[in-house]
Amino acid sequence: MNPDDPDAATPGVLVSSSRVELQQLMLPADANPLGSIHGGAVLKLIDSAAAVVGWRHARGPVVTARLDDISFLRPVSVGNLLVVKASANAAWRTSIEVGVRVEAEDLSTGGRWHVASAYVIMVAVDAQGKPRPVPPVKVETQEDERRFTAAQQRRVARAS
Ligand SMILES: CC(C)(COP(=O)(O)OP(=O)(O)OC[C@H]1O[C@@H](n2cnc3c(N)ncnc32)[C@H](O)[C@@H]1OP(=O)(O)O)[C@@H](O)C(=O)NCCC(=O)NCCS
Repeated sequence: MNPDDPDAATPGVLVSSSRVELQQLMLPADANPLGSIHGGAVLKLIDSAAAVVGWRHARGPVVTARLDDISFLRPVSVGNLLVVKASANAAWRTSIEVGVRVEAEDLSTGGRWHVASAYVIMVAVDAQGKPRPVPPVKVETQEDERRFTAAQQRRVARAS
């Protein structure tokens, strides 16, 4: 039982119980010869953060089923810190939509900018790799509620 959950009798997992923030310094191995970070390096961190959220929510392994459209809004350079924030927006029978926001920080100035946002569908799996049921998401804040509603709408749109 989660001691932070005032509504512990209702089944589900609080958004705050699975939320994660990953931070990683961008190094030359992540970059092209001009010092700009590869999109693939950013995608890997997005996938890692979404996997942590999904695994925490499901309390078991998850696999990536889908990464929705993603645009890289501004470049990232060697020496910038990448800050990846991820949380569960909604969960259905076996899948969880994780929202991920990526920011970069110039460590010299403290300036931060939005690099990309993504929605990732993680599916909980059993030892045979077959989908297994997950608990619902329990929203706590108005922001959680807004994301939950938007996730339901995206689920409908994906199916059409
Ligand atoms: C994800 C995977 C487990 C789904 O298996 P499946 O037999 O197709 O399962 P189902 O059709 O029953 O779907 C299971 C859930 O996944 C969701 N799902 C599967 N593919 C999806 C997709 N492309 N987009 C969104 N949701 C998807 C379904 O909506 C369903 O959700 P729900 O149970 O919450 O309603 C399977 O496709 C798989 O193992 N894929 C490879 C995953 C992987 O290796 N990822 C790393 C990429 S290298």
